[in-house]
Amino acid sequence: MTDQSSAIETWLQENAERRLESLKAFLRIPSISALPEHAADCRAAAAWVAADLRSSGIEHVEVSETGGHPVVYGDWLHADGAPTVLIYCHYDVQPVDPLDMWESAPFDPIIRDGRILARGAADDKGQLHLHLRAIEALMATRGRLPVNLRIVFEGEEEFGSQNLDAWLVANRDRLRADVAVISDTAFFQGNVPAITISLRGLMYCQVDVTGPTVDVHSGGFGGVVENPANALARIITGLKGPDGKVLVPGFYDDVVPLTEADRAALAALPLDEEAYRLEIGVPALVGEAGYTVLERRGARPTLDVNGIWGGFQGEGSKTIIPAHAHAKVSCRLVAKQDPHRIFALVRDHVLALAPVGVRVEVQNLHGGRPSLTPIDHPATRAAARALEATFGRAPVYLREGGSIPVTASFESILGLSTVLLGFSNPDDNAHAPNESLVLANHETGIRTVIRMFDELASTGLG
Ligand code: BES
Ligand code: ZN
Repeated sequence: MTDQSSAIETWLQENAERRLESLKAFLRIPSISALPEHAADCRAAAAWVAADLRSSGIEHVEVSETGGHPVVYGDWLHADGAPTVLIYCHYDVQPVDPLDMWESAPFDPIIRDGRILARGAADDKGQLHLHLRAIEALMATRGRLPVNLRIVFEGEEEFGSQNLDAWLVANRDRLRADVAVISDTAFFQGNVPAITISLRGLMYCQVDVTGPTVDVHSGGFGGVVENPANALARIITGLKGPDGKVLVPGFYDDVVPLTEADRAALAALPLDEEAYRLEIGVPALVGEAGYTVLERRGARPTLDVNGIWGGFQGEGSKTIIPAHAHAKVSCRLVAKQDPHRIFALVRDHVLALAPVGVRVEVQNLHGGRPSLTPIDHPATRAAARALEATFGRAPVYLREGGSIPVTASFESILGLSTVLLGFSNPDDNAHAPNESLVLANHETGIRTVIRMFDELASTGLG
């Protein structure tokens, strides 16, 4: 260890208790971006983050308006000759329902078996928080950062980042950087350190099927009016075949096929399929014929119903033909599928499948583009060295199935490549009840970020 790194390590150890209290305080703020009744909590989370950055010595800290939940911006630009890194995380979280499945209150963090349990612990407040602590530790011990830093902490990621692109365009000048680092992804099965090299995109729509003006007697009208729930079921079965192939014409047109090298890299990952299946709790893993589990999850597009409703839902029975039925349908997309084009294709196919006797409408709710990161980017290599030094083993490279739409926007709007350096554990229950973060990952994450900045300072990026 150099003198510098042992000074930071000592400081980190001395501040361990305070750091945990600060993480708990942040997790107590219920910053659920999708629910209007939590708008003030999102603002409170933004203000909390801004105050934290200011007290570490970050400059130009601002809670910046977007038209929705604000972005927290800050910078520190005094590392002459060193690269400029743009850090992105999100302070918003998913809703907590079903609440009765939680073993403790989602916004009252508890610690159990080395994990902190709370909504946002992994996705993504815990990861944002480890960047705050890395910055604080560097400023407290060295009085400076090894790289120039621009910080963008967003509050609408879980809700489609609808206002972020316009904000990036409006703030393009003060976002000039050499590379972006996003911490909003997970390690590999077994908590193996990982760098994510691709994310899927998303198209999310709603299908509304309407029949009679009101629910009608299923005896009096059954057999003469089309039933919206039956019609919706027929439409949905027409969208994806039993072999996992999406049946929407043109859906695969823009998909970049996996190369032999891509397939070999995924096949080399040590996935225990049986353990994975048991962890999810399903009787079998399924998916598109001709592809492995990791290919299906990370490198192939898919289509799913997220929710479906309509008609009688109460106990017992009620004999009706419902007036309407609805479904939320999403597609995970891969390079180079475009969410707008996919929406148009899905809409046209849904309308073509619609039987006579009902009205069918399809609304585009939101979307995001897929992204790919070059594995040999100097910043990816710096992150890999930092992970290896901290964890004692080289990271694996993952193609993830989730989406972080801003990754593609950093490329298209700011011209930036992104390193997806995330620290949550793969069994973190993100978006689900009992979300948790392995506290050791928070700690090693802080050390990794510090090392990565030091590594980046000695690359030729700036
Ligand atoms: N952290 C996730 C993205 C993620 C999930 C990365 C799984 C790697 C593996 C992120 O917060 C998220 O959930 N994003 C949404 C985006 C959507 C609302 C546009 C998603 O993927 O559903
Ligand atoms: Zn996230």
